[in-house]
Amino acid sequence: MIGVAILGFGTVGSGVYEVLKVNADSIARKTGEEIKVLRVLDLREFPGHEVEEVLTHDFEDILNNDDIKIVAEVMGGVDVAFKFSKAALEKGKSVVTSNKAVVAAKGTELMKIAKENNVNYFIEASCGGTIPIIRPLCTSLTADKIMSIKGILNGTTNFILTKMTEEGKPFDEVLKTAQQLGYAEADPTADVEGHDACRKIAILSSVAYGKTVNFENIYTEGISKITDKDIAYAKKMNSVIKLIGSSENFGDGISARVAPFIFSDRHPLASVNNAFNAIYVEGNMSGCTMYYGAGAGKYPTAAAVCGDIIDAALHLGRNISMDWDLDAEMKVYDINDVAVKGLVRVAYNDENEAKKAVEEFFGINAYINIEGADDEFAFVSADETEGTMKEKMAALSANAAVKEIRNMIRMEG
Ligand code: HSE
Repeated sequence: MIGVAILGFGTVGSGVYEVLKVNADSIARKTGEEIKVLRVLDLREFPGHEVEEVLTHDFEDILNNDDIKIVAEVMGGVDVAFKFSKAALEKGKSVVTSNKAVVAAKGTELMKIAKENNVNYFIEASCGGTIPIIRPLCTSLTADKIMSIKGILNGTTNFILTKMTEEGKPFDEVLKTAQQLGYAEADPTADVEGHDACRKIAILSSVAYGKTVNFENIYTEGISKITDKDIAYAKKMNSVIKLIGSSENFGDGISARVAPFIFSDRHPLASVNNAFNAIYVEGNMSGCTMYYGAGAGKYPTAAAVCGDIIDAALHLGRNISMDWDLDAEMKVYDINDVAVKGLVRVAYNDENEAKKAVEEFFGINAYINIEGADDEFAFVSADETEGTMKEKMAALSANAAVKEIRNMIRMEG
């Protein structure tokens, strides 16, 4: 028997408990031993639930139980999750996690501690829910140099954008449904403003390019400014809007950002809807591969955590390292130097003069109009850098014929 502890009995934690119970036989066949939950840590009580038998409010009960070899940290947050994970690793227990916040902030440190103690810190469930992506990057694509990653990495925002696009539903209503379905974070600002996707692209980029990417260096913009009008412009161009976490490898450094992007509906990422996630990886030899699946939700995330529990059980006392130099930090280019092309929505006081200003600053004289947006037009910029785009938009905004720039949405390709 291999003992497991679960830290946190919320959506994912209770899912891990159930997956280990429902699939106990097949899991035991794969590990060669019974995997048994010996303790579940949570501050709350669960009267009448069978978890009461193993429930503890004291982490020391887990730390000091030598039968517990694997700890699933699914509590969320950074400080306490880090403290408990560190203590467990130092005690010779492997830790598996779905907690992208702690992996992005402290993953390097925890992986070093795991290595020193001949145990493992596995993070498959931290990115893309149930989608196998960390292992494929570490194993299947090892002969490649990864050149770029583009991912729909947040289920909540993809669900919101899908419902706004397909059903014309308002943002707030769809967010509430996403919360009820267990996709959203406790504070959904992390989803909506792109912080969750930012942590995930930082983790994936670290794994793919082999050096730690500091998530704080990644430019991040969420979907809170996306309106029905933006979606209508995208539709007019046979396109959709997706929140994308992306990074590109230039050898001496990477560019990285999280932002809503307009994708042609012919792009494979355009058909990824609802809470599904997908990660589109470009290798210098294999070309493009895409990994797709449920990116959020109780059982999909729990299944990924349990996959790591099985891997940890198969490698007790042996550290499995990734090709990730835990002592090196990856240079992330200044966002102002990163290439961009965007759809710019211009509201005007004087249409002709505003168009003249667009031609003067952007060199563009082709415009897009949608129904119901009578005081504005939009245009697609040429290739710019984020820096020149910002400068040109500031100059355009300052023109008397221009009322305001309503949005600038980046375009793929
Ligand atoms: N809140 C996250 C999402 C959960 O919506 O994708 C999975 O990490």
